[in-house]
Amino acid sequence: MRIRKAVFPVAGLGTRFLPATKAIAKEMLPIVDKPLIQYAVQEAISAGAEELIFITGRSKNSIMDHFDKAYELETELEQRGKEKLLAIVREVLPPGVTCIFIRQAEALGLGHAVLCAWPAVGDEDFSVILADDLIDGKLRPCLAQMQRVYQEYGTSVVAVQKVPKDEISSYGVVEVQPVAPGLGEVRRIVEKPKKEDAPSDLAVVGRYILTPRIFKLLERTPRGAGGEIQLTDAISMMIQEQTVLAYEFEGTRYDCGSKLGYLKANVEYGLKHEEIGGEFTRYMKDMAADLNSLAPKEKKQG
Ligand code: UTP
Repeated sequence: MRIRKAVFPVAGLGTRFLPATKAIAKEMLPIVDKPLIQYAVQEAISAGAEELIFITGRSKNSIMDHFDKAYELETELEQRGKEKLLAIVREVLPPGVTCIFIRQAEALGLGHAVLCAWPAVGDEDFSVILADDLIDGKLRPCLAQMQRVYQEYGTSVVAVQKVPKDEISSYGVVEVQPVAPGLGEVRRIVEKPKKEDAPSDLAVVGRYILTPRIFKLLERTPRGAGGEIQLTDAISMMIQEQTVLAYEFEGTRYDCGSKLGYLKANVEYGLKHEEIGGEFTRYMKDMAADLNSLAPKEKKQG
């Protein structure tokens, strides 16, 4: 039982990153030297995906170009003898993996974006990855961890993470019945609840393994929070019919849809980068020392 198809909804407006995202997709913003979408694609491929389905909107041509063969660039690098760079460019999409691009004409929400993937997914279980949730899965990529749960239980699986109470109203939040350590059956799921109404501190993050039943349910999901068709609302209907598991993955998630999360990811990935990690670490240490020496002065002034 392997999930062959991965859906990447990349049609959001990315308003939190304007003006950077005026002409380019949020998912093309780099973490050090790789765009967010490439981390997401590599995660899907490492979990066995062979068909990548991108749900795109306006200003997303750069994503298509990124996964296209770059004949001119490759020839140029070849002629200049830049073998290492040539390999990096060619590795963007491994052989045997295909890409499908579907246009979401209007940004009507994540649920609507997933529904747009139906013709390409058809009647099989599939995964959804939100590239702006960058997850460093440490020992195993997050989707590969979820794939193991899927193989054991054969049901839909959503990735969840404990988040501080003050942040809970930015997420879909689940109430679960424990099944095993770090694993529970979803009993209730609510999109962006008020802090006092949140059923728990377990928030859904951007990784899903879903059965195709979700499409039928999305078809009749009305607009919900923020006037958008919410995937959370369709999952809420699905738990009445099928088991949906919430899995607390191992690893660190960076919310790269927010400026702070994006900066944190760049720092952390910069520190362990094979080419610049050493130098960057020294720079950060110097900077930390400077900041420490500044701190008492700041207090006095305050
Ligand atoms: P976000 O909630 O982060 O929205 O979408 P956004 O528009 O991308 O960014 P902000 O909030 O305006 O800054 C979560 C994910 O769902 C996709 C986005 O591309 C992102 O991966 N999405 C959202 C769509 O594909 N279509 C939509 O209509 C909405």
